[in-house]
Amino acid sequence: MERYLAGFDTTQIEGIKAQTVIVGSGIAGLSTALQLINLGIKPVIITRTPYTVSNSFLAQGGIAAPIGKDDTTALHLQDTLKAGRGLCIQKNAQILVEEGLERVIDLIRYGVDFDKDKDGLIRLTKEGGHSKRRVLHIKDETGKAIATALYNLIKDKVDILEGYNLEEILTEEGQYKGILISAKEKKYIIWSKSLVIATGGYSPIYLRNTSAYTVSGDTIGVSFRAGCILSDLEFTQFHPTALNIPNQPAYLITEALRGEGAILIDQNGNRFIDEMKPRDEVARAIFHKEMEGKKVFLDLTPLKERGISLQERFPTVYNLLKKFNLLDKNKIPVSPAVHYTVGGIQADVNGTTSVNGVFAVGEVASTGVHGANRLASNSLLECITFGSKTAYSVYKHNLYTKVEEVKIKNRGIGTKLLKTEEKSRYFYQIKKLMWEKVGLERTEEGLSQALSTVEGLQKELLQYTNSRELIDTLYLAKGIILSAKNRKESRGTHYRKDFPQEKDYYKKHTKVYNDFKIKLEVN
Ligand code: SIN
Repeated sequence: MERYLAGFDTTQIEGIKAQTVIVGSGIAGLSTALQLINLGIKPVIITRTPYTVSNSFLAQGGIAAPIGKDDTTALHLQDTLKAGRGLCIQKNAQILVEEGLERVIDLIRYGVDFDKDKDGLIRLTKEGGHSKRRVLHIKDETGKAIATALYNLIKDKVDILEGYNLEEILTEEGQYKGILISAKEKKYIIWSKSLVIATGGYSPIYLRNTSAYTVSGDTIGVSFRAGCILSDLEFTQFHPTALNIPNQPAYLITEALRGEGAILIDQNGNRFIDEMKPRDEVARAIFHKEMEGKKVFLDLTPLKERGISLQERFPTVYNLLKKFNLLDKNKIPVSPAVHYTVGGIQADVNGTTSVNGVFAVGEVASTGVHGANRLASNSLLECITFGSKTAYSVYKHNLYTKVEEVKIKNRGIGTKLLKTEEKSRYFYQIKKLMWEKVGLERTEEGLSQALSTVEGLQKELLQYTNSRELIDTLYLAKGIILSAKNRKESRGTHYRKDFPQEKDYYKKHTKVYNDFKIKLEVN
C-alpha cells in the first residue's frame, strides 16, 4: 500500500516540536486536553475549525449516567449490552458506565449546569433503549454546554492551531514520530512524543447525515495508511428522525422529543412503531413506510398536552422549525440520516491503537463499547470517560519516549491538480454511492457494485497530487464496504436484506488490516 500521497520531503518543511498533539477539538479532544493539563502536559491542539464546529457541540439529547434514585450502573450496563446486540466488549462497557458516572460528577463540579426541576434536582430524560430515565441534559444544547465548559477550562493552557488539516502521520519502523499538517497551501510538521486522534466519526461519507460540516472521516484513512487497524466499520447508526425537507441538510431532531412523548405517525396519521425501541429498529420502520411511498412525521401534540414548552425545553428544534415555517404545524417531516459511526480506529479504553504513540478517542475510535448499536447518549459519556483515561496512557507513553526528527521521503504520486469543483463532484459521488448501496439495507449485489466503483475511483484519483483527502475517504469507504460484505448476517445497525438474521458465527468484531485484509475476531 502506498504510504504517502502528497509530494513532500520532510527536510524541506518547517518543523516544530511538542510533547503531545491532539487532533480535533470536540468533547473527546477537549477532555483529553484537560486531563493532560492536570497531569502537567501542555498539548498542542490542531483543529480544522473552532471548537464550536464539531459533532459533540451539536449533540442535543444529552449524556447518559445512572444518577437517578432507582437506577444503577448494572442497569445502565445491561441496557448498553442489549442495544449492542451481543457485540459489546463487556469489560469496556462496564468501565464506561462506572467511570463515566464519576466523570459526569466531575462535569457538575466544573459547573456544567444540567437542567433541574423546581426542587433543584437534576431532571433526567429518556431515550430509546434505556430502561430508566437517565439522560442528563441542558435543554437540547447539551453538547454545546459541555464543550464550552471544557474549552473555557483549557483555552489559556494549551496551544490551539485552528484551520489545519491532518495530512500524514509520520512513522519510522512502526513508531510514531510526528504529523504533517496543512493550512491552505502551506505544510508544517510537528514532531512529538505522542498523537491523540479525536476527529469524530465518518457519518459525512453518507449523503444524508447530521454531522458538523468539517467532520469528514478522512483522518481514519490517514491513520490506516500509517498502520492503524480499523474495526467494526460496517456499524453505521442511522438516527430515525432527521429533518426531511427537500434540498435541505438533514438537521437532527432529537430523540429526547420522543422521550418526552412525541410520537411517530405516517401521512395518514397512523402510529406504526414503539418510539422508544432502539434506533436501528425505529429507523428501519420509517424506511419501510417510505418504501411504501408514505411520508413520516414526528407529532409533537403529546408534548403540548403535557405542558412542555418547545421553546424553553428544546430551543434548537424550536429555532429550526421557526426557520422552516413549521412551528404552527406541530408535525415535523422526518426521515433517517446517518448520525453516529460505531466503527473506526481500533483502540482500547485508554486510547491505545496498533501504532505505538498514536492514540484514538471518541467517535473516531472503535473500542467495542457500543457493540453493533450504540445506546443513545452513551457517546458524550465515552468522550469524557475515555478522554480522561487516554490522557493517563499518553502520560505514561511520554515518560519513556523522546521527540525525534526523522527523515521521511515521499514517493510522490500523481502530477495533475484537481480543481475545487471537481473535488466536490467526486465527494458527492462517494456520498451518494454509500447512501444508495451501503445504507440502511444492504445486499451482496449493491455492496459489490459499490466496491468496484470505489476501486475505479481510487485508480482515477492517484494521478492527482492534491487528491489526498479524497483518496483517504476512499480508503475508508473501501474498509466499510468490505466489512459490510464480509458480515453475512444482520445485527444492530448493520442490516443485510439477503441475510436478515443474526448468526452466532458472526458474534465477532471485524478488523481491517493493512492492505485491506479483513478478519473476524472475538475481541
Ligand atoms: C439525539 O439527541 O437524538 C441524539 C442523542 C445521541 O445520539 O446520543
